[in-house]
Amino acid sequence: MVDLLGASLSTSIHEELEQIRRSGLYRSTRSISGKQAARVEMNGRDMLLLCSNNYLGLADHPALIRASIRATERYGTSSAASRLVSGSMEPHELLEVEIARCKGTEVALIFNSGYAANTGIIAALAGRGDVIFSDRLNHASIIDGSLLSGARLIRYPHNDHAALFSLMKKHRGSGRALIVTDGVFSMDGDIAPLRELVELKKAFHAYLMVDDAHGSGVLGEQGMGTTELLGVSDDVDINMGTFGKALGSFGAYAAVSVELRELLINRARSFIFSTSLPPSVLAASLAAIKVVCSDEGKCLRAQLRVNAEYLRSLLVQAGFTLPDGSTQIIPIMTGGAETTMRFSDLLLEEGIFAQGIRPPTVPAGLCRLRCTVMSTHSRQDLEWAADRISVVGKRLGVI
Ligand SMILES: Cc1ncc(COP(=O)(O)O)c(C=O)c1O
Repeated sequence: MVDLLGASLSTSIHEELEQIRRSGLYRSTRSISGKQAARVEMNGRDMLLLCSNNYLGLADHPALIRASIRATERYGTSSAASRLVSGSMEPHELLEVEIARCKGTEVALIFNSGYAANTGIIAALAGRGDVIFSDRLNHASIIDGSLLSGARLIRYPHNDHAALFSLMKKHRGSGRALIVTDGVFSMDGDIAPLRELVELKKAFHAYLMVDDAHGSGVLGEQGMGTTELLGVSDDVDINMGTFGKALGSFGAYAAVSVELRELLINRARSFIFSTSLPPSVLAASLAAIKVVCSDEGKCLRAQLRVNAEYLRSLLVQAGFTLPDGSTQIIPIMTGGAETTMRFSDLLLEEGIFAQGIRPPTVPAGLCRLRCTVMSTHSRQDLEWAADRISVVGKRLGVI
């Protein structure tokens, strides 16, 4: 009986894996040695890293490394429980005060990751009888949080505020309405029309949540993200961002009002039922915020902008058609899954690690190489990358 069951289970898993392989959507991880720097070592070879979210180079910044080591020595290696069980430690509280100060909100709450923040916040805010209006290209964690909430989920066409207006008029209900959008879209690199979304939120008495995973640290004069860039910081109800990308650490925050924070502490299951982040990670995040707000942070952001513009211009000169956008996320559209992964594999042979992106991360037929620029890439790195990408692009008929 045990054997029979075991055999049928392993057959069905084998079949599922075969099916994933046949559809060209099989995924596996690649090993790299060392830090997430501009250059990494892969199987003993030096490679240019063109797919990391370590946009400002903070993941290997000495100030973050030092802060992390010191916090471990002072507070130990773990928080050992949910904050509701064994208490908030000093580093949780220091980081929340600093986030709220920088974001200009009353308070902030730390979550264990962006994924945990989105699933926790959305399902805490919306439930049966409520409506969530979500951009069609929002991150998977927003979709998962929306499905978990039990609220009605209406997905509006990407960045189309006119279509959203019609949908909000049509689905006006008696419960809560929540508009949720990425600030910078993770696979496309374009920016949400936050000013227009603020108008809609006001017109329909809705809440507005912005997931600024890819804008935090990078956009705005002070690096406070898309809300700062577009001057709408005071009109966004839930300003969520992550520490694991430009901020070179790990975890996420929600910058909110005092009442919303209380609601999240009482209702967000990913906050309540999970051990909180360890002191080393919290201290690295705090050190990252200090760098982002300093003159050094300004210089890193300026360099990132220059690098992103430069790589975009080189790729356009080479004949690639790039979607509109100005951020550090540069998608090279490649069509089908097979061509995309071949493109990525051929670039690995050339010495460039650039990840191919396929469904379900992006819609079928819209596969791409998602190239991400870092402030630590040199001009020569980018020129060499554009040259190699062009050679492979021609070989595969993409240009
Ligand atoms: C827009 C967006 N939101 C949320 C997340 C999840 O954040 P984390 O990696 O911290 O779980 C990501 C990560 O890729 C993202 O791109």
